[in-house]
This record gives sequence, structure tokens and C-alpha cells, in this order.
Amino acid sequence: MSITILGIESSCDDTSAAVISDGLLKSNVIASQKVHQEFGGVVPELASRAHQQNIVPVVSEALRQAGISPSDLDAVAFTRGPGLLGSLLVGTSFAKGMAIGLNIPTVDVNHLHGHVLSHFIKEDDSQAVPEFPFICLLISGGNSQIILVRSYFDMEILGSTIDDAAGEAFDKCAKVMGLPYPGGPHIDRLAAEGNADAFKFARPHIPELDYSFSGLKTSFLYTVRDNLKADSGFIEKRKADLAASLQKTIIDILLDKLAKAVEKTGVKAVAIGGGVSANSGVRGAIENFCRRKGIKAWIPKRSFTTDNAAMVAIAGYFKYLEGEFCPLDLPPYSKVEV
Ligand code: KG4
Repeated sequence: MSITILGIESSCDDTSAAVISDGLLKSNVIASQKVHQEFGGVVPELASRAHQQNIVPVVSEALRQAGISPSDLDAVAFTRGPGLLGSLLVGTSFAKGMAIGLNIPTVDVNHLHGHVLSHFIKEDDSQAVPEFPFICLLISGGNSQIILVRSYFDMEILGSTIDDAAGEAFDKCAKVMGLPYPGGPHIDRLAAEGNADAFKFARPHIPELDYSFSGLKTSFLYTVRDNLKADSGFIEKRKADLAASLQKTIIDILLDKLAKAVEKTGVKAVAIGGGVSANSGVRGAIENFCRRKGIKAWIPKRSFTTDNAAMVAIAGYFKYLEGEFCPLDLPPYSKVEV
């Protein structure tokens, strides 16, 4: 019997819906919200309102592209958290309403879980997927975690950021340079033309496998501020070198702890996930690292790195197969770990 799951993602500023049938992706529609750009960050109230406007057309389009009607669905999976509560409420309420109307179950998905399981989204039957156990470096706008993945549902966080996430380091430093939000992709583009050894920024000394990016951010701010005093055109003249040096420092920090985690666990594969895993420098560095260590690197397609409902649908599919459904009175949550 064929199992068809609708996934809904609304945890931050992307409204997304996807259909997965028997583990194969049939559609993945994402409406990104432009409304936040002029504010230099996501404005929660505006995000909730945009989700309200987007959710019906996005879900309709996902069903249309998959070539199915609502009655073909076996369950509705949705991101229950973590994320912005108002945004999550839109997706959660919509998913529950639709499931009640269709008389099918809902499946709640942890957003971070979804990022890890994005490596199991298959676009065709021949596609290879990771074998357990592996380490997932989850790097996004809200998280930087090293996760030991033993199975679809057994995940252990080995290390986490104690302050900013890797994406925040990109975005906040980009803001200092006057780049639009989110700054990560702009730094990525500029870094390709700069000298990565031009500037030296602070590196953290944090025990175990935890991360910290706030010191780097402060040292970046001071470097820019001090140089601007001497030359008001400093940022414009040196933006590529600043971006390249920043990106290299972030990658070095990420890889230092990742290497320790691989050593400690002896895993034979590393996967990356979350928005920052779209970064060209990060992708290249992970591939080189894995080649040197003789282990497998799992680098996701860029469309599956940032927030998307395909990852929610695949996580929902696995939970559905286990019979793990969500009672209708479970509310969304804003903060929790994997
Ligand atoms: O996973 P994600 O879409 O959602 C949140 O956690 O909010 O990640 C968004 C983050 C932002 O910080 C953004 O700047 C970063 O991912 N990002 C990048 C790139 N593309 C997105 N950072 C560096 N290089 C990129 N190419």
C-alpha cells in the first residue's frame, strides 16, 4: 500500500509544503518572505502574517505539482518546533485543521530532526542515503550542533553553540559591513574574490565539543571600527578580504570541533545540514576534510539546506511508519533540542 505524506514547514520566515510518497519526493514548494529585508532580520509578527497569507496557496501548489488531491493523503506532518511561536501556530493549526477535515492523522516533526533527516529525501529510487551511525554538523541561523545520528530517531547532541549560531556570525558581521539580510549568501559570494589570510579574527577556546561565535563577531566589529577611523572607505575597499577572512575563521572553528567529534566517535561518515551548509567554503572544506580522513561526506542539495517542507515530510514519513502520531492537543514549542 502506498503512503503519501504532506509536510508543512512554518518555523521561521519560509512557508513551505511538500509531498512525499513511499519515501520519494513529489513536490517541494517554498515561499520565502521578502517582507523582512528592510528590517535587517526576521520580524516575528510579520512572519506570522505572511505565513497566514501563504499557507493555502503553497499547500495547494504542492498538491498540484505532486499530481494528487487532498483525499490521496495518509497524514499531514508539520514542524511543531523549535522556531517562532506565532509562525509555528499557523502551520500547526493548518495541519491539524486539514487532518481533521480529511480524517487522517497528524505527525509532529522537530525542525532540527528534519534538517538531519533531509539526507534521506529521495528524488529517485537509485539515490544513495547515509548509513548509520554518522555525524551531522547542523549549522543554521539558530543552531550550531554536532549530532551523533544512530538511527532515524536516536540522535545525541555531542556539542552545541553556547552563544551565537554559525549563521548569526555570518549575518551579524555582514550587517556590520552594510550587507542585506540574510548576510550569509553575500559573504559567500564576496569571499570567493578575497584573501582569506588578510585579517585575523578571534578564535574561541571552549572545552569539549561546544562552539562559540560571539568573540569572533566582537573582534570582527572592532577590526572594522578601528579601520574605519583611519579610512572611511575601508569596508568598500576591503569587503572581499573581510568576507574571505571571516568565512575562513568560521570554517576553521567548525572543523576543529568536527575533527574532535569524528576522532571521539570513530564514525565513517559526516553529513552537513542547515542554511550555513549552503556555503561554498563550508561544503568544500567538509569534502576535503572527509577525503583526508578517508570517510564519506554527505553534502545536501542547496534547496534542502535552508528551511523546506521536504525534510518535514520525510521525517513525518518515518514517524508514520512507526505509528507515531500527534494528539490534536499538542501545542507548538519555541525552544528545544533534538
Ligand atoms: O536553516 P536556515 O534556513 O534557517 C534558520 O536557522 O533560520 O538558515 C538560515 C541561515 C542564515 O543565517 C543565512 O545567512 C545562512 O543560513 N546561509 C548562509 C548561506 N546561505 C544561507 N550562510 C553562509 N553562506 C551561505 N551561502
